[in-house]
Amino acid sequence: MKISSAEFITSNTDYKKCPAPVIPELAFIGRSNVGKSSLINMLVNKKKLAKTSNNPGKTQTINHFKINDKWYLVDLPGYGFAKISQAKRTEWQQMIYDYLKFRKNLVSVFVLIDSRLDPQKNDLDFINQLGEDQIPFGLAFTKADKQTKNKTHRNVSAFMKKLSESWETLPTYFISSAETGEGREDVLNYIEATCAEFKV
Ligand code: GTP
Ligand code: MG
Repeated sequence: MKISSAEFITSNTDYKKCPAPVIPELAFIGRSNVGKSSLINMLVNKKKLAKTSNNPGKTQTINHFKINDKWYLVDLPGYGFAKISQAKRTEWQQMIYDYLKFRKNLVSVFVLIDSRLDPQKNDLDFINQLGEDQIPFGLAFTKADKQTKNKTHRNVSAFMKKLSESWETLPTYFISSAETGEGREDVLNYIEATCAEFKV
């Protein structure tokens, strides 16, 4: 799929203030620093559209980017960020939870998983919660450029095996790198197909 336009629309802390839910959207979620903002930039080929940082906790709001005038990509704050107060953490969790649960035009969520790590409890817990809430999602394993293909595949297999302990059908997944562009075409095709199912 060709990306002809990608523009920042708004940042919000309340899903009710997000743009009118009249076109489909996909949201990117995952641990702080996993590469959500970087993946969005890689997909739309604009290095500085979503703000990225070496330090976790960069994205703190719900950010809407309009793509090809047809759908939104949504950059969310990460979970598992240690250096915030308990009050702030609870506030973020509530903001994300309400957004995921009540946003009417959310057609799918991308849960990003660091491809360098063994299965992490907070990722598995988050995915299981999506299941309970019946929110559709796909997985993107990030930072594949940082290690050998073999190591990536071992970690992906370990993660999917862990998921198969609680899931009968496994989710669609992609291996990606914001550095090399790996996974771009496949992720965009998934987004296009998923958005095509949306009806107002
Ligand atoms: P928060 O907004 O803090 O939750 O983080 P995030 O998930 O949006 O991560 P972000 O995109 O800001 O990336 C975090 C760091 O990882 C940055 O230094 C990125 O340059 C780096 N990074 C992200 N994706 C990749 C990747 O695929 N490969 C490599 N080598 N580095 C990456
Ligand atoms: Mg971010």
